Amino acid sequence: MDEQKLHQIVHEADNVVPRPTPKEFYEKQPRKSLQNLDDYKRMYKESIEQPEKFFGEMAHRFLSWDRDFDHVKWGSLKEGVISWFLGGKLNACYNCVDRFALSTPDKTAVIFEADDEGECRKLSYQQLLFEVCKLAGVLRSWGVKKGDRVAIYLPMTPEAVIAMLACARLGAVHSCIFAGFSTGAIRERIFDADAKVVLTCDEGKRGGRITHTKELLNKALENCPDVEKVLVYKRTGNPEIEMVEGRDYFWQDEVREYPGYIPPVSMDAEDPLFILYTSGSTGTPKGVVHCTGGYLLGAAMTTRYVFDVQPEDILFTAGDVGWITGHTYSVYGPLALGAATIIFEGTPAYPNMGRFWKIIEKNKATHFYVAPTALRMLKKSGEAEISKYDLSTLRTLGSVGEPIAPQIWEWYDEKIGHHCCHVADTYWQTESGSHLIAPLAGAVPTKPGAATLPFFGVDAVIIDPTSGKIQEGNDVEGVLAVRSSWPSMARTVYHCHQRFLNAYLRPYPGYYFTGDGAGRDHDGYYWIKGRVDDVVNVSGHRLSTSEIESVLLANKKVSEDAVVGISDDLTGQAVIAAVQLKDPHIADDEDSLLALRKELRMTVRKSIGPFAAPKSIIIVHDLPKTRSGKIMRRIIRKVCSGEANGIGDTSTMINPEVVDHLIKAVEQQFGVKN
Ligand code: WTA
Repeated sequence: MDEQKLHQIVHEADNVVPRPTPKEFYEKQPRKSLQNLDDYKRMYKESIEQPEKFFGEMAHRFLSWDRDFDHVKWGSLKEGVISWFLGGKLNACYNCVDRFALSTPDKTAVIFEADDEGECRKLSYQQLLFEVCKLAGVLRSWGVKKGDRVAIYLPMTPEAVIAMLACARLGAVHSCIFAGFSTGAIRERIFDADAKVVLTCDEGKRGGRITHTKELLNKALENCPDVEKVLVYKRTGNPEIEMVEGRDYFWQDEVREYPGYIPPVSMDAEDPLFILYTSGSTGTPKGVVHCTGGYLLGAAMTTRYVFDVQPEDILFTAGDVGWITGHTYSVYGPLALGAATIIFEGTPAYPNMGRFWKIIEKNKATHFYVAPTALRMLKKSGEAEISKYDLSTLRTLGSVGEPIAPQIWEWYDEKIGHHCCHVADTYWQTESGSHLIAPLAGAVPTKPGAATLPFFGVDAVIIDPTSGKIQEGNDVEGVLAVRSSWPSMARTVYHCHQRFLNAYLRPYPGYYFTGDGAGRDHDGYYWIKGRVDDVVNVSGHRLSTSEIESVLLANKKVSEDAVVGISDDLTGQAVIAAVQLKDPHIADDEDSLLALRKELRMTVRKSIGPFAAPKSIIIVHDLPKTRSGKIMRRIIRKVCSGEANGIGDTSTMINPEVVDHLIKAVEQQFGVKN
């Protein structure tokens, strides 16, 4: 994060008066989830002081249980044991599909907006149930049962939603892999989750181009001998797709055999619902595990209270099911409330910059949820496209994934919301399952650029990282942590609870550590400043520096490397790699340097995905290190940002002379002066 800029933003915002939800918001939907700030305060207090009572009632209000729970909250962060709704039994798919297929079968559940504008498909709750049962029938016939892991490598199509729900129906644990990931990343995730079955498609369509989904999967599976079956949805129907006999089957052919009802499997509230891999600052990606009861409640409650989603609403979350936003706010949240969700296959720029607005107008979307990176791009492209469309059905505008600059917030409010919408900057993480800090519609006044106040049950604290002490009161800064568990919190890292403890619960014993820096202003509002570790956030995609580093290191010419994120106007952060070569002369002339950079970038694209490829690669003689041999990424980050004078103390460095070399290399190769 660009700290100076953020300090400035926070400083400027200090004088901002909180803005109430516009009155037009309730002219569009008179039913109020919450009446005012006092409502929020009263409920928040109860959620913290009497979580058993508060969440017990909420769990009954929002979810259908096969068996009632005996205990609401159990365990503690100190012990590393977190349980919610013990003894309770339910099925997530039943809660998201069957109950509405019973009460409102003809109501639209899923609206598919394909990459090609002409292609649109709608599924009612009844049709969704039918499709989910068919797929569950195939999976069950393949022996998939409760607790088995199923990998889903599908782009944003209704099949991704159907796949997740079919797994949930059988009690199988789904592990979605972002469709933008390439071979190495796919393999690693399938391998780690011990998935025996993979659900995918032949090819994808994105931004007018074809993506080679099955081809990439095939390559990844060369090193996953345990995968027994692959179900391939024919999205383009390309006959050239390579199918492995005895392992690969076409979705459309197989489901024909199972046209009947498949009952949902009753799950314990604490049974895992899904695994989602996310990046940390060290090691391989972590398979974050979310459990059925608590996760679903968090998804449903935040979708209702933060966004004010009602059953008649149409939510357009422009995220991807490969990330947590897609899980919670494209699938589980809206469907658990019986609302409709728009699944968009394409990009905001195809066929032109008006695509999002066209989708909103056409479908009369009431809610729009997107990452600031897309807003920055759309703002830059001007207003011509926006003014062509009627966006008056919108009631809530959400932002997620990275800090939203106040100017972007204002633009969103004015140009898209016409000052008639609730604008919610939502702060949360893969690990939190649902919103941690966000303004509740109609109750919490907003401030442009602030995530505002914590959600129910989230006992947020700011800790001074140097002393480890809780910063009481307002006007404080530090790292953000949470004092007690909340229902949708991740329970563990798949087959490695130790990693879970080390990453989240050990840094500040008794607290959940978010990894983010934050400030609390004089109104008690939270301002998120970004990661305090080495996680990089590019266009709202959370990347691990260590994953990129190890891919670069696999190149024979590289002896050592360090990856950092620096501030970028368009993508929020950009990936920069500092690379040390085994033979420093390889890069002596411009042409070979160019070729080497291309080669290294290509390695990352092919292994992890295009979005992870370094924007710049700087060849260095040496990397700055501590006496114990640890690479000091902080120094590289500062120099690449042109802030070498802010490096501070270098007394822990074993090779302080490297700083000057680094400054020179950055200036020569990257054009940044220090
Ligand atoms: C960052 C995405 C500022 C933060 C839902 C967090 C944000 C990481 C915001 C999680 C926000 C997310 N303001 N920063 N509103 N939302 N972040 O797991 O650094 O992909 O730790 O989950 O994104 O990214 P993840």
